[in-house]
Amino acid sequence: MIELKKIRLGKTDENIPILGQGTWGIKSYRNKEYYEKWKESIRKGIELGITHIDTAEMYGRGTSEKVVGQVISEYNRDDLFITSKLFPMHTRYNSMKKAAYNSLKRLGIKQIDLYLIHWPSSLISIKKQMRVLEDLVNEGKVRYIGVSNFSVEQFKEAQTYLKNTELVNNQLNASITRQKHINQSLPFYQNEGIIMTAYSPLGHSGFHNLKGELREKLERVAKSHNSTIQQIAIAWLINHENVITIPKAFKIEHVEANAKAAEISLSKEEINLFYETNPISDMEN
Ligand SMILES: NC(=O)c1ccc[n+]([C@@H]2O[C@H](COP(=O)([O-])OP(=O)(O)OC[C@H]3O[C@@H](n4cnc5c(N)ncnc54)[C@H](OP(=O)(O)O)[C@@H]3O)[C@@H](O)[C@H]2O)c1
Repeated sequence: MIELKKIRLGKTDENIPILGQGTWGIKSYRNKEYYEKWKESIRKGIELGITHIDTAEMYGRGTSEKVVGQVISEYNRDDLFITSKLFPMHTRYNSMKKAAYNSLKRLGIKQIDLYLIHWPSSLISIKKQMRVLEDLVNEGKVRYIGVSNFSVEQFKEAQTYLKNTELVNNQLNASITRQKHINQSLPFYQNEGIIMTAYSPLGHSGFHNLKGELREKLERVAKSHNSTIQQIAIAWLINHENVITIPKAFKIEHVEANAKAAEISLSKEEINLFYETNPISDMEN
């Protein structure tokens, strides 16, 4: 297993790779060959040091967690870092707890490394969600806790309800074409020593149809680093302090390219070049 560049997880003593593997794309009710291909890609990622795997109970209605569970059973558990998420369709304390236990069962592990509230919800108070997360930590079912898609205000509110634990992470939609959280929220997380995970780092569809000035700039920088525009887009995110990212790659060649992107060091000028670009749209298409 190759060692990838690591980052400290908030104020904990844990160091995690700056690149993880996204698994949103794992669908349910597909043939054996499809799942074997997915497993191959995840194994390849692990071998290349992308040992942080991001999943959620919602992905493929549990199928993603099951497939991830099958792959991680082949490895030393301590070499891996597993993130999963509680979907806010469960509104009661007991049903939220049960959802977490079901995730553990599907993953086939005793403890989830990082457990996040997937989305804030008007149906459940943040206070109740935090009580569930903290109780899961106290029970030893979860090591670290965080949130996803929370605003800075919601994040600050959530922190006030925690007695013995701290939130270490907010997972947010952030990429070179969706810079809102990088420009507006990241300074808060950097200041607080919290890790921001940039999800959908390739705009969900891989930036294959990206056009205009942004593409030209990416191509120019990519050429000087002997890389692809997608690798530069990933590198741009993780060249920011306190940022990790979790691209999803089904194709092995994409997994390999993403692992290499973790090694790309961009100069300040190269990073700044992309702030100047007026993103053509929030998402690629
Ligand atoms: N917390 C949340 O609410 C939330 C929301 C969305 C996503 N996420 C997480 O973030 C992960 C990533 O986001 P995403 O799935 O939306 O999409 P993404 O990572 O932005 O993009 C995935 C697309 O990029 C392609 N790709 C990957 N690496 C590439 C490379 N090196 N060169 C060219 N193309 C490449 C993939 O192709 P192939 O698959 O064909 O290889 C796929 O089409 C998810 O899987 C999930 O774990 C979290």
